[in-house]
Amino acid sequence: MSTRNTRWFSQALLPWYREHGRALPWRGKPDPYRVWLSEVILQQTRVDQGLAYWQRFVDRFPGVQDLAAATEGEVLKLWQGLGYYSRARNLLVAARQVVRDFRGTFPGTHAELITLKGVGDYTASAIASICFGQPDAVVDGNVYRVLARVFGIEIPVDSTEGRKRFKALAQELLDHDHPGDHNQAVMELGATVCTPKNVACLLCPVQGRCIAFASGRIDALPVKKGVAKTRDRYFNYLHIRTSNGLYLRQRTGKDIWQGLWEPPLIESGAPLTAKKLQERLGPGWQVRSRGEEAKHVLSHQVIRAVFWDVTPPKREKLDPGWKAMDAAAVRAVAVPRLIEQWLKRAGI
Ligand code: ADE
Repeated sequence: MSTRNTRWFSQALLPWYREHGRALPWRGKPDPYRVWLSEVILQQTRVDQGLAYWQRFVDRFPGVQDLAAATEGEVLKLWQGLGYYSRARNLLVAARQVVRDFRGTFPGTHAELITLKGVGDYTASAIASICFGQPDAVVDGNVYRVLARVFGIEIPVDSTEGRKRFKALAQELLDHDHPGDHNQAVMELGATVCTPKNVACLLCPVQGRCIAFASGRIDALPVKKGVAKTRDRYFNYLHIRTSNGLYLRQRTGKDIWQGLWEPPLIESGAPLTAKKLQERLGPGWQVRSRGEEAKHVLSHQVIRAVFWDVTPPKREKLDPGWKAMDAAAVRAVAVPRLIEQWLKRAGI
């Protein structure tokens, strides 16, 4: 641990947080189950959208036992729209671990918490500090931004060295008497004041000590090495009508949207023409029209979807995994946002 004086940081942030921090329902008297849910949801989205998801989870599953007894379909449905669906599946696995391995009571140490599926260093530190007063500093995107700016750190946050240095600094700054509030204060500052754009430096409790502010480098920090190149994928969805609905199938395998439902899909390496699609489908299939196009941007891939109106040959044996569903059945299963929006526009 360095001997430099770092107490000013917490001394400025804590009073600011206690006065200006948002009154979120999992704060107050923190319960580890509720805090865990909030942290997993907030890794996916911002507080304004995440709050409604959190409320629905807590209403439907008031305790970890209730969640542990859920089906994967139910959890995916509640998670629908947040993306990165492995997080939802991990929630269920972790809830069952808490019930089985910890007799239904959340463990209170970082070492035990990271044994839970989907709980990494960030989430374990958040729960341990917020709910159990453990001296574990959290580092998330907000923390990187705040520390890079206040301390004028130019090391890329997405490098091994950067991750190590920021983690060490966060730990050095941590107020051991109030680790939960300290951690939340830093994240709160990053979420509400020290934001990526439209920074509100005039409201910042550490503006007077901020190196980026003093040197006009707010927009230049934090530094990132660069994002991985994204790849384009072409999804040809088959809109096969039935008398009262359409066909959907459930995605399996190690790919995006595992466990979610979508129309039967032909993926191609490049955009398909109607003729090419017809050839891929085989004799007797009718490609009636090229329907809507939709683009869906994920972290490392761009999905370019086309919804084709097609009719299978009469008496064709369709894939047994394709299920004819009416509107009510469609609404009951979890679908990717791209599909949800298409269904809405198609009036299904
Ligand atoms: N973002 C993610 N977790 C947070 C927390 N506990 N407080 C503020 N912002 C957050």
